Amino acid sequence: LKIAVLVSGSGSNLQVLIDQMQAGKLNVDIIGVISNVADAYAVTRAKNAGLRTVVLSHVPNGKRMGIKTFEKHTLELLSEWQPDVVVLAGFMRVLSAEFIAQVPCPMINLHPSLLPNYKGLDTHARVLAAGEAQHGCSVHVVTAELDAGQVLTQAVLAVRHHDTAQSLQQRVQKLEHQLVPFTLELMSKGVLDLNHLQQSANFVAL
Ligand code: GRF
Repeated sequence: LKIAVLVSGSGSNLQVLIDQMQAGKLNVDIIGVISNVADAYAVTRAKNAGLRTVVLSHVPNGKRMGIKTFEKHTLELLSEWQPDVVVLAGFMRVLSAEFIAQVPCPMINLHPSLLPNYKGLDTHARVLAAGEAQHGCSVHVVTAELDAGQVLTQAVLAVRHHDTAQSLQQRVQKLEHQLVPFTLELMSKGVLDLNHLQQSANFVAL
């Protein structure tokens, strides 16, 4: 399964994919990594792993590249690379409907909540504030509406009394590091075929 990964931050989810790919535990080929942040540690991880890595972050005057310019260059790269799936792993820019429509393959996104609940940002603090008993993360199909595409897989944990937003984020991230490779494994085996989505596979971890 050829994958292109879009990142913005530390890249811990990317690192899990790199490690499992290199250990022969996950049948994926990371054919390229694109970051919208020049100094994201994810870029270092990708380069250290010898992966094709492209940073699309700033224009000559040093300002952050506009989303239109970012999307134009990204489309060029994806059209050249021809991945089977694009993985948004800690990618923190909202992509336009036009862009999503033009990407030559399905895109999936990791979101730190049990979708369809808690779309958007600051999910851990919001879950705590609401007194939820459960929390977790989801991998879903990227569509024009933010965090609203078909949920493919989810990992669930019980919120503990002494949890803080930070402790939740850390515990959820451990689930993310299981969920992303699990989802890609299902896709590489054809169990999950985004072009013929009859049902979503579910994965529960406490
Ligand atoms: C993930 O925990 C995800 O929930 C959120 O951003 C974080 C990215 O982590 N979207 P990393 O960049 O993969 O370490």
